Amino acid sequence: MPPAVPSTFLEACRRRPTPFTPIWLMRQAGRYMPEYRAMRSRLGFLELCKHPEAAAEVTLQPVERLGVDAAILFADILLVLEPLGVGLEFTAGDGPRIDRPVRSAAAARALPAVDVDDAVGFVFDTVARARKALADRVPLIGFAGAPFTLASYLVEGGPSRDFLLTKSFMREEPEAWGAMMSRLADVTGAYLAGQIAAGVQAVQLFDSWVGTLSPSDYRHFVEPYSRRAIRALPAGVPVIHFGVGAGGLLESMKAAGGDVIGLDWRVDLGAAWARLGHDVAVQGNLDPAVLLAGTDAIRRVARGILESAAGRPGHVFNLGHGIHKETPVEHVKALVDMVHEMSAR
Ligand code: CP3
Repeated sequence: MPPAVPSTFLEACRRRPTPFTPIWLMRQAGRYMPEYRAMRSRLGFLELCKHPEAAAEVTLQPVERLGVDAAILFADILLVLEPLGVGLEFTAGDGPRIDRPVRSAAAARALPAVDVDDAVGFVFDTVARARKALADRVPLIGFAGAPFTLASYLVEGGPSRDFLLTKSFMREEPEAWGAMMSRLADVTGAYLAGQIAAGVQAVQLFDSWVGTLSPSDYRHFVEPYSRRAIRALPAGVPVIHFGVGAGGLLESMKAAGGDVIGLDWRVDLGAAWARLGHDVAVQGNLDPAVLLAGTDAIRRVARGILESAAGRPGHVFNLGHGIHKETPVEHVKALVDMVHEMSAR
């Protein structure tokens, strides 16, 4: 493989023709990778996020191992919740936990403003180090959680299946919900703007749990705040707006903002793109579970996605959600190579 043309990913975000379809993978730095596990045997997850030198090293691991066309900053969407004083922990088995969830209008209104330089300056330090280490081989993507996904962690206190507390809160306390979402939109906007100032060349807004909402609830309770976060960003830096299970919300997510809409595997990429209109780029959308199958199956599904995109400028290949930790690294490497090879023009 020749080295990736540095700008291929950014060109695709801008819907310009590229020599091949660029690919990067959500959660490309993570537990499926032995070099990541080695790092985690020495540092806890939060400790690693707060150690810019180590976090920059982890950011580069998939670039070196897989040959992807972009690096994604190693950090987490929940880091900005810690300075809100709610008590953030990552437990070994159960994922993230908030010790003091926000369950009343008073608690929502009391959430403090966050000075991101003070609170998460270590992330910006990681960005600067990773950019330097990448030396423009591939661009660096920054990211943050969208206001709804952050609010769902604040209210539920951890992962949830039905989001009943969140949905009850937004209906019963609409004004306090608006105050909390405005606060989170401002934190997200400042967090992404800080990453951009430190050197990221594109950003992804993760609305991971937004697929739990009806289209009208999305428009009413979420869209204005995602728009507010995106509008806080300087022009010229591509924004990828991604939701999981959000096939029913795509038009509204586009209306909220983003140069690229991230699709999961529950939609056909070509059909979703036609619905969105070809004046926006798309990213996706291989089911990450396919990477557990053999390379023939991976090739078939990847080819189907490329055919669905029909070589149109403005497709960034990705998974529809993060890589599972059970995934063999060789399968991921094979996917990257086959997407480059099958899409070469
Ligand atoms: O390579 C990358 O994509 C970079 C890093 C990244 C992480 N988290 C590191 C991480 C990114 C982009 C995220 C985003 C994130 N974090 C999201 C949105 C993406 C998505 O998957 O929907 C969400 C919802 C979170 C919150 C979060 N952080 C959860 C739910 C968990 C537990 C996951 C699990 O499988 O246990 C985390 C922890 C986390 N963040 C890990 C990594 C590599 C695993 C932690 C570990 O090393 O033990």
